[in-house]
Amino acid sequence: MKCFIISALTADGYIAKNRTHAAMWTSKEDKKRFVALTKQAGVIVMGLNTWQTLGKPLKDRLNIVYSPTPLPAIPGMESTVKDPKELLQELESRGVKEVAICGGSTIYTMFMQTGLVNKLYLTIEPILFGDGMRLFNKDLDYKLKLLSCEKTEGGTLLLDYDVESTAANF
Ligand SMILES: NC(=O)c1ccc[n+]([C@@H]2O[C@H](COP(=O)([O-])OP(=O)(O)OC[C@H]3O[C@@H](n4cnc5c(N)ncnc54)[C@H](OP(=O)(O)O)[C@@H]3O)[C@@H](O)[C@H]2O)c1
Repeated sequence: MKCFIISALTADGYIAKNRTHAAMWTSKEDKKRFVALTKQAGVIVMGLNTWQTLGKPLKDRLNIVYSPTPLPAIPGMESTVKDPKELLQELESRGVKEVAICGGSTIYTMFMQTGLVNKLYLTIEPILFGDGMRLFNKDLDYKLKLLSCEKTEGGTLLLDYDVESTAANF
């Protein structure tokens, strides 16, 4: 199964100013890539804080939301408490081939720690926040391979990485 992280960062490495800060500050090129890749995947996974910044499911994708308490049923959205490996196994048994991990820091970190993420699509925007939330919030050791780096006219970098190995396998 392809399981990828997709995220936009400022040039100083933040994904948001705080946990209620919606990711509306990204470029049109980032939004276009996000829509294309997540629609291709068909399934997007996020945490409750990120879900609350959206307010409604992203259309044409199954939205899976990590929430400590079950969320009211909405078409196109399911809430879960499953551990990442169990969730991916269940999705695989439902015929899913690709899953997009869509944040925030808590969910990116939880999935990265499992070793099941095999790709990262990162966007670096020419913006500074100075302080805020990092992509990950726990210790990790991974080696990445940069597959492509596209620079837009506005100075956005669209990066595509494969996850090569954990530090133990360097
Ligand atoms: N720049 C970007 O590309 C981007 C993308 C996505 C999100 N963001 C930003 O990231 C910020 C949110 O990040 P965040 O780390 O605060 O929150 P988050 O990852 O969106 O969600 C955390 C929530 O998920 C719940 N959760 C986590 N693991 C769980 C589990 N195993 N079972 C059940 N519930 C679980 C947590 O429950 P507990 O309360 O019980 O711990 C917590 O309520 C927002 O500002 C958002 O806009 C930015």
